[in-house]
Amino acid sequence: MAQASLRPRRSVLYMPGSRERALEKARSLKADSLILDLEDAVAPSEKIVARELVAGAVKAGGFGGREILVRINGFDTEWGEEDLVSAAKAGPDAVLLPKVETPELVREVAAKLDQLGAPEKTKIWIMMETPLGALNIAAISASSPRLAGIVVGSNDLVKDLHAEHTPLREPIVTALGLTMLAARAYGLAVVDGVYNAFKDVEGFRDSCRQGRAFGFDGKTLIHPDQIATANEVFAPAEADLELARRQVAAYEEATARGEGVAVVDGRIVENLHVVTARRLLALGEEIARLESAA
Ligand code: COA
Ligand code: MG
Repeated sequence: MAQASLRPRRSVLYMPGSRERALEKARSLKADSLILDLEDAVAPSEKIVARELVAGAVKAGGFGGREILVRINGFDTEWGEEDLVSAAKAGPDAVLLPKVETPELVREVAAKLDQLGAPEKTKIWIMMETPLGALNIAAISASSPRLAGIVVGSNDLVKDLHAEHTPLREPIVTALGLTMLAARAYGLAVVDGVYNAFKDVEGFRDSCRQGRAFGFDGKTLIHPDQIATANEVFAPAEADLELARRQVAAYEEATARGEGVAVVDGRIVENLHVVTARRLLALGEEIARLESAA
């Protein structure tokens, strides 16, 4: 299994690229990542202004440790190509491509980013949000070394399936599962879809918990009020970290005695549990580092 980076991505906030004030405000929001959107959150009449505002904001920087993604329009629209050129020059952490359905598209975009002289650090992320994209997610995930992450677009997926939004998301569980398998198999970051009812705090928390149980790194958000809950749910709790520390210590003592397993709180601790414990501890450290830098 390939390893994704340990960078925290608990809270990934969409911001309409046309809203100058929101872009300014984002520099102080406690989201781990920001998606500066040129696609669905922006009206056709504002597409070009948004492209310029977003490029200007990325170049100006000042986002601290926050990861900056720019979501461009599809290449089947009149804006996609120019959006890519503009984003390549601005050099965000990633360009997020909507409605990706084939590995060829990712490879073409990777080649274009090279031609345009985009910085090495500018990765490609893709939206998994159509039936064909879900079916091809394994090949898409293996498509290019420049590909670094997947964002689930559950609203588009539910729409294309003629399905309904249900609390436990049964209609899209297969697509979510395939996406998790592909992301972990190929070492990509993977972020869950949005929760539309942004004033429903308890429903949102349940949705975050379900996403965490699936293994998602975090959740995409539509409103700043959702940030704190996502940061809390997708971070290892203090009790988890404390248990992880004891598991690592007990396992190290056991192996020093020549034994292969340890027991902590009446449960077996094998090498694989220690791998999980160390990952949680490392993630906890990365979160602490990010929060102290913010
Ligand atoms: N990012 C940054 N700031 C945001 C924000 C966002 N996604 N959504 C709201 N804000 C800001 C507002 O600008 C406002 O700031 P202010 O008080 O300094 O003026 C503050 O948060 C409170 O906003 P509020 O009045 O509660 O919400 P709203 O009615 O202005 O906006 C939405 C509600 C849903 C329209 C808005 O949150 C939004 O556009 N979200 C993003 C939608 C999106 O990107 N969709 C595409 C992907 S699904
Ligand atoms: Mg979409």
